[in-house]
Amino acid sequence: MGIVIRGGSVVNADHTTRADVYCEEDKITAVGLDLEVPAGTEEIDAGGCLVMPGGIDPHTHMELPFMGTRVIDDFYTGTVAGATGGTTMIIDFVIPPKGGSLLEAVDTWQERAAKAATDFGFHMAITGWDERVAREMDEVTRERGINSYKFFMAYKNAIMVSDEELVAGFSRCREVGAIAAVHAEHGELVYHLQEEMLQRGITGPEGHPQSRPAAVEAEATARAIALADVLQVPLYVVHIGAREAAEAVTRARLRGQRVFGETLAGFLAVDDSVYYDQDWDFAAGHVMSPCFKPKGHPEALWRALQAGNLLTVGTDHCTFTKEQKRMGLEDFTKIPNGCGGVEDRMSVVWELGVNSGRITANEFVAVTSANAARIFNVYPRKGVVRVGSDADLVVFDAQKSKTISARNHYQQNDFNVFEGLEVQGVAVHTISAGRHIWADGEVRAERGAGRFVPRAPYGPAYAGMDRRMVMNAPRRVERKG
Ligand code: URP
Ligand code: ZN
Ligand code: ZN
Repeated sequence: MGIVIRGGSVVNADHTTRADVYCEEDKITAVGLDLEVPAGTEEIDAGGCLVMPGGIDPHTHMELPFMGTRVIDDFYTGTVAGATGGTTMIIDFVIPPKGGSLLEAVDTWQERAAKAATDFGFHMAITGWDERVAREMDEVTRERGINSYKFFMAYKNAIMVSDEELVAGFSRCREVGAIAAVHAEHGELVYHLQEEMLQRGITGPEGHPQSRPAAVEAEATARAIALADVLQVPLYVVHIGAREAAEAVTRARLRGQRVFGETLAGFLAVDDSVYYDQDWDFAAGHVMSPCFKPKGHPEALWRALQAGNLLTVGTDHCTFTKEQKRMGLEDFTKIPNGCGGVEDRMSVVWELGVNSGRITANEFVAVTSANAARIFNVYPRKGVVRVGSDADLVVFDAQKSKTISARNHYQQNDFNVFEGLEVQGVAVHTISAGRHIWADGEVRAERGAGRFVPRAPYGPAYAGMDRRMVMNAPRRVERKG
């Protein structure tokens, strides 16, 4: 049985139009006014609402084992939470242990993700470097549908990679047709500052931002950009929180480098004052890396989004309970790093972005869905309301309000970084691959109905000209005499 969404305004990244949308099985099969549909078709009334491509959260960590514990949201609860907020695809990070096999890690993640309620894709993390990793990157990219690799420039003594590994890994990305991604923080400097804080007796959550000044992010972002430029590999900088990091991306793009910047819904909404709250659980609940930055940074990120210099808004959804966070009661470096957001991302970006006049509804679609689909090579299957695209849709009521709270959110953690924020603009219906899984307050999602979305490697043109070929081209040297 198909579904028809009637009477809404269809908002894509490039235009808005009044139209009905008809879906058969998992695809959109008609978009137009007053569509005639077969008897028995489910009708969704979108009168007064917007019909947009389902959100794509390009940055999540479901059931990740991390810092001695495990993320509390699994692929089912996390994707259901996302769907209630209008998100129909996540791209999660496969993170093998240092020295581990990439292929085995993909299998592990596929097993975990088999319970997902919406579609999902994977990025692969490179946590160390050896011949097997280099070899497996080829199979991961060409046969396992993963075309993006994240390198952690922080988390010393855990998953951080060295400059030597970055260089080798970036080069290999180019060879296999993948995009490199970085967690850009100067891990050595963070470690040094953390030690200094602890020696000074600063053991609470306030030590977290004090050991991660903006320069930590700015330096690593600039370094990754320089390496990617020389090695001619496209680069995606994840979770940008610092103005200076966004500026580094902007400068690179002005120079013509293929660099994409992602920020997070949280970074657009919250500043580092949260770490100085007297309530330890509240302060620790915000501990994530990079950290929230001082006042002024969120506005700079908004401006970079407005200008098109940052292109995506993810969440870095990585949820822990208060109890889990208390692992770091005596030492802030032991607080599991991570916050939530997959459920609230769309409403928060709408409220602070569109309602404030910072971005248009079309730009909203770009930064919450279409740009991620383009950058990660799944457009137009995802990211657009168009005949032939996947029937991943959100009916969004821009008049409806709600107050975000951990008391009634679907995420499994007992904390919400957007607690108390009133948002006007709410997902009222979510369609995932042609299934109506969120119906005005009712969850109809099915465990395991989500599908893995393979992403093809990029062609050579995407990486750009191989500068080394030019540099090494034989040159005739005229000598006198
Ligand atoms: O604090 C964070 N961001 N935790 C998840 C791992 C990462 O760095 O993305
Ligand atoms: Zn990261
Ligand atoms: Zn992350």
